[in-house]
Amino acid sequence: MPLKAENNFLPDLNTIPEEIARKAKLLWINYPNNPTGALASLAFFQELVDFCKQYNILLCHDHAYSEMAYDGYKPPSILQIPGAKDIAIEFHSLSKSYNMTGWRIGFVVGNAIGIQALKQVKTNVDSGVFKAIQKAAIAAYSTSEAELQALISAYQKRRDIIAQGLQSLGWPIEPPKATLYVWVPVPPGYSSTEFVSLLLDKCGIMVPPGNGYGAAGEGFFRIALTIPDERMYEAIQRLTDAGIRYA
Ligand SMILES: Cc1ncc(COP(=O)(O)O)c(C=O)c1O
Repeated sequence: MPLKAENNFLPDLNTIPEEIARKAKLLWINYPNNPTGALASLAFFQELVDFCKQYNILLCHDHAYSEMAYDGYKPPSILQIPGAKDIAIEFHSLSKSYNMTGWRIGFVVGNAIGIQALKQVKTNVDSGVFKAIQKAAIAAYSTSEAELQALISAYQKRRDIIAQGLQSLGWPIEPPKATLYVWVPVPPGYSSTEFVSLLLDKCGIMVPPGNGYGAAGEGFFRIALTIPDERMYEAIQRLTDAGIRYA
């Protein structure tokens, strides 16, 4: 399902042909969204739940950014929708909230049949998570809320450095309310690949082109807020020095 700016990077369920909907077994969504930083409202989640109930589709929500949100925004769970548990499962990860990227540990909640099916697949494709990592996850969940808030504040500060820096160079962007990403339009006249190549050649800045995430990502590039503040400031300075602006 293409995620387009004009639809706030939400899939348009009305464009799914009836025969495809009838054949579909699983619908995968992720909000707050990587790479677009888009948010889903409860009203949209309701639409998804209604759609999946109508066509008997297992709705899987990848909620990897459940805690990584700013300005007081709280990303909703799909399970807040009454009756969602009849057709939905939701994945949570410690990857972002506890800096455990690549450790591959999280949990899944929701529909019992869906979870049973997942268990059957998982027990056949791997042997579970290494016990030391499980213990690290318990330790992570035993830390105070203040530690999580400190991490969120660090990302929020980087988001502000990037958003304000790009705005000062003419970029028409709003700071994202969640995720570790800023999804940025390329200046008029460039393709995604052309613009990220220019950034690499002229500024030594490497960012992924939006079309690397699928055809609908053309016209954008993604900035990850995973490097220290000083490097963020430096990146904006390099753009300024190279005379690179949105318009
Ligand atoms: C949407 C989304 N889901 C899942 C992951 C990875 O989660 P995990 O480390 O738990 O496999 C990422 C990390 O980039 C992500 O962006």
